[in-house]
Amino acid sequence: MRIFFGSRITATISLLAIFVNFIVFCNNGNNNKKVIAEDPAANSQDQYAGSESCKNCHKDIYQQYSTTAHFHTSATLAKGSHVLDGQQMVPFNHSTVVKVLQEDSLYYQALYVNGKQQIKQKLDISIGAGNTGKTYLSWRENHLVQLPLFYFAPTQQWVNSPGYGDKVVFNRLITPRCLECHASNVEFSQDITRGNIEFKPASLKVGINCEKCHGAAKQHIEFHETHPNDTTGGFTADVSHFTRIQKLDMCAICHGGSMNAIKPPFTFKAGDKLSNHYSYNTVATDVAALDVHGNQYGLLSMSECFNKSEMTCGSCHSAHNNERGQKALFSQRCMNCHTKADANFCTVQNVSQVLLVKNCIDCHMPEQPSKTIEFLEPLTNKTVSATMRSHLIKVYPGDSKKIMAYITKMSKK
Ligand code: HEC
Ligand code: HEC
Ligand code: HEC
Ligand code: HEC
Ligand code: HEC
Ligand code: HEC
Ligand code: HEC
Repeated sequence: MRIFFGSRITATISLLAIFVNFIVFCNNGNNNKKVIAEDPAANSQDQYAGSESCKNCHKDIYQQYSTTAHFHTSATLAKGSHVLDGQQMVPFNHSTVVKVLQEDSLYYQALYVNGKQQIKQKLDISIGAGNTGKTYLSWRENHLVQLPLFYFAPTQQWVNSPGYGDKVVFNRLITPRCLECHASNVEFSQDITRGNIEFKPASLKVGINCEKCHGAAKQHIEFHETHPNDTTGGFTADVSHFTRIQKLDMCAICHGGSMNAIKPPFTFKAGDKLSNHYSYNTVATDVAALDVHGNQYGLLSMSECFNKSEMTCGSCHSAHNNERGQKALFSQRCMNCHTKADANFCTVQNVSQVLLVKNCIDCHMPEQPSKTIEFLEPLTNKTVSATMRSHLIKVYPGDSKKIMAYITKMSKK
């Protein structure tokens, strides 16, 4: 049985869309808010305009947003694109090496056994903005495979992909779920009986675009282009009026770790209930079972901060700005809720208040090694893991002690 997910039906309903436009231009009664039509056509792919088209009217947001990891989390490697520098060869044993080759402005990964080339595969798509690293995918007709070498940013070296130990694998098939978290859309078909997944390469939209959070915006643009004096907005997913759970779900679709699918990938839209698409535990029970990689939601939901307040991801994170590494700024956001006046401030002793207020983060959300982003260092066979910021906010006596010792040392200098 072959099932096609995507915008196959769009041609038949585009006529309908013209009709629907009529209806939605009449505001819905409640608060004069112009809402996206509840017709499937309104959410089919030809109702999406792409982030580029927001640039003219939302210049500042666009500029800010284009510096984020979301924006850069996947990219197409066209001729001439630059792939990260670094060691260009990874030895696996005395006879086997995988090399990164550059030929005629294109990049390849190639397997050599006893000096003889066995496989050579082009780098077509990068996954990862590069905070921890990047992995590269290659088209084999309508299949997408992950290439063996992963670029690990902290040590600036090519290594075997996490999870592969010392095995060279050129045919790991990429699933739509991988792209649901790292890209904006792709059409695919799945032969359920054989588990064979085929993509439509031309339909892939790389990066996480504005409409992933704001909903299909073609109507919004058409409206503002024809009503230049209207400053009230509308025809977007009404993010700022979402309930707490809607706000959390729109992030948890990609930050909730592994979940069991109920519906196919790419059917979730901002504002939808995540539990209609994936089954997951809102209250996780076992911290040890959750990895710090990719499951910020699971860890946060076990924190007292989260359970005793109306906290959302937006309590600390800006949706449009790249604030990575700005610990003092994040600490300010802790102090929106934790103040001396409210008598719920930090109770740690013997730490300079000046330093304390600049970094709540390293003591209460320490970086921890990920169990899934873990690989063997070439030849030494030493296990190396990426570190991730834990979203389980609490007192970590060990980490606090280390930091206090560091602060004491620095203040004596
Ligand atoms: C022709 C100009 C124009 C274009 C193009 C445009 N917008 Fe808007 N947008 C507006 C105006 C005007 C407002 C209302 C004032 C404001 O909030 O900036 C608005 C408001 C918004 C809002 C606030 C919520 C709301 O609906 O009131 C969002 C979200 C939004 N736009 C998203 C987008 C996205 C995403 C794109 C690109 C896919 C886009 N806009 C393209 C003109 C435009
Ligand atoms: C479509 C999937 C998707 C959605 C929806 C999504 N994220 Fe992400 N987010 C990602 C991926 C993938 C990364 C990793 C990007 C990378 O480094 O390649 C990421 C990275 C981040 C980062 C780290 C950025 C950095 O530079 O360190 C933050 C913070 C974040 N997301 C917050 C949010 C919040 C808050 C929401 C909801 C408003 C959200 N995300 C919605 C997929 C998503
Ligand atoms: C459930 C959503 C989800 C899925 C599925 C997923 N990722 Fe990620 N991935 C994330 C998030 C979120 C981050 C960044 C923060 C983190 O690691 O917690 C990330 C980080 C990464 C990074 C590091 C990015 C950087 O900037 O350093 C790479 C590379 C990556 N993922 C590759 C993949 C590949 C390849 C697949 C599929 C085989 C995949 N991911 C599947 C959500 C996901
Ligand atoms: C990861 C999710 C996410 C992405 C991607 C995203 N936004 Fe937003 N956006 C939000 C959230 C959440 C809010 C509401 C913020 C608030 O309530 O403070 C918002 C608010 C807005 C607003 C209205 C408030 C304001 O700040 O003026 C506009 C306009 C807007 N976004 C445009 C865009 C455009 C244009 C892009 C792409 C360049 C984009 N957004 C990408 C989540 C996102
Ligand atoms: C939206 C409000 C809010 C924000 C933002 C917030 N917290 Fe909390 N936090 C709380 C509440 C409520 C509690 C429960 C105890 C109380 O009532 O003070 C709590 C509890 C804690 C605890 C005790 C946890 C335990 O298990 O004993 C620590 C530590 C803490 N917060 C640190 C932080 C840090 C660090 C930040 C910033 C990274 C932060 N909080 C941000 C509301 C918040
Ligand atoms: C109480 C504050 C707070 C809340 C709430 C919060 N975060 Fe974070 N988050 C942080 C801090 C602090 C960092 C570290 C930032 C840095 O060092 O650049 C971070 C980092 C991240 C990263 C990058 C992880 C890494 O190690 O590279 C992702 C992804 C992320 N947050 C997603 C989320 C999502 C999704 C939510 C909601 C489920 C959320 N955060 C809620 C404070 C928070
Ligand atoms: C040097 C490490 C360190 C820094 C920096 C730090 N804390 Fe703490 N914090 C601790 C330790 C350790 C405790 C437990 C102290 C005790 O035993 O009473 C604590 C206790 C707390 C508590 C009370 C927890 C409880 O169980 O009731 C809160 C809330 C808190 N910190 C919030 C913050 C905030 C907000 C900041 C930033 C403004 C911050 N902390 C900065 C180490 C630190």
